Amino acid sequence: MDYFNYQPNGQLWAEDIALTELAERYGTPLYVYSRATLERHWKAFDQAVTTHPHLICYAVKANSNLGVLNVLARLGSGFDIVSQGELERVIAAGGDPAKVVFSGVGKTAVEMKRALELGIKCFNVESEPELARLNQVAAELDVVAPISLRINPDVDAKTHPYISTGLRDNKFGIVFERAIEVYRLAHSLPHLEVVGMDCHIGSQLTDIEPFIDATDRLLALIDTLKADGIEIAHLDVGGGLGVTYNEEQPPLPSEYATALLSRLADHQYLELIFEPGRAIAANAGVLLTRVEYLKHTEHKNFAIVDAAMNDLIRPTLYQAWQDIVPVVPRDGEPTEYDFVGPICETGDYIGKERLLNLEPGDLLAVRSAGAYGFVMSSNYNTRTRAAEIMVDGNTAHVVREREKLVELWQSEHLLP
Ligand code: LLP
Repeated sequence: MDYFNYQPNGQLWAEDIALTELAERYGTPLYVYSRATLERHWKAFDQAVTTHPHLICYAVKANSNLGVLNVLARLGSGFDIVSQGELERVIAAGGDPAKVVFSGVGKTAVEMKRALELGIKCFNVESEPELARLNQVAAELDVVAPISLRINPDVDAKTHPYISTGLRDNKFGIVFERAIEVYRLAHSLPHLEVVGMDCHIGSQLTDIEPFIDATDRLLALIDTLKADGIEIAHLDVGGGLGVTYNEEQPPLPSEYATALLSRLADHQYLELIFEPGRAIAANAGVLLTRVEYLKHTEHKNFAIVDAAMNDLIRPTLYQAWQDIVPVVPRDGEPTEYDFVGPICETGDYIGKERLLNLEPGDLLAVRSAGAYGFVMSSNYNTRTRAAEIMVDGNTAHVVREREKLVELWQSEHLLP
């Protein structure tokens, strides 16, 4: 559930503010987030596992705006990061480094050093060379690095191939069959301390089954390690819980947690870590865009809007479907439109074959744009990136200003 609703006057609002008002005040394209929705989604995870020791580590990559991170940090959230940049954002937003887990296949020595200095909770290590490097960096600082191994459980997440990560063909994690051997190696290295085990099998999962399969495989490994004298204190099940973009019916966090906890009966001592990104942020944001032109041809009708693939690349990159709704709906017969942006690429579209009754100048909201929206935006075609607004009740906070054109080339140079 979210707090973007049509009000009795027929218009779409974010919490207690009309989206028309925000568009007039801040211009379009405009990302608008709802604080109450972010908090509700985070708490849905947290409350689903109250009976068990746990930590919710929001996946920063989904939406790394400082305002978003700050809202979650105030709830006591942990964070899953994949770069020094994300780590510095967490710190700048008031997050606690002791609740940070560091994922990713390509951590540099500089990134490891900074994370060790700040005292993060755990490095989710993805390969043997990474173990060796981390041991070396920790030795240079004369500290011990807490580690978990990301195990690739080889289960099919049944999601889009670009966002499926738990199959043996993917670049992620350590192959299941080698897990014990690599744990023994980690255990033998003097500047590493084995504390956890993790996996992340993919994103936008709408079934519980792959999560449970992966968990069962990991629990079996944890038992084998225990017999070997290697104690695992936490199990990090990654992110990946899907959201409703269209008609998907993903499990609720509570259903997911109940299913997981039922497998943990013999492992009550394990702290559970979740790394949700999309499930917290996606439906806590919309992208507002205005219709510039309506172009009718013999075969197709195009609504040319002021947002483009540089603002929201998911439709172009993954053929993702996101709802496009009028902020002030019109009565009358709808027409079928392809919603396209001003960028010079055929692939520049936000949605295809949607039925709406439109006039030029109409304001539209692209739903479910709070995750993997602004963070994946670019300056392609020398377009400035959109502003971001956080609505909190009847107050709107600018959490990122619209880029100015001159900023786009301020670090570029003419030849002498
Ligand atoms: N943990 C790890 C290690 C991850 O790689 C990811 C996402 C997450 C957690 C969070 O997953 P989530 O709960 O958001 O599904 N750009 C794509 C999604 C890429 C996901 C990458 N990894 C999209 O727009 O659909």
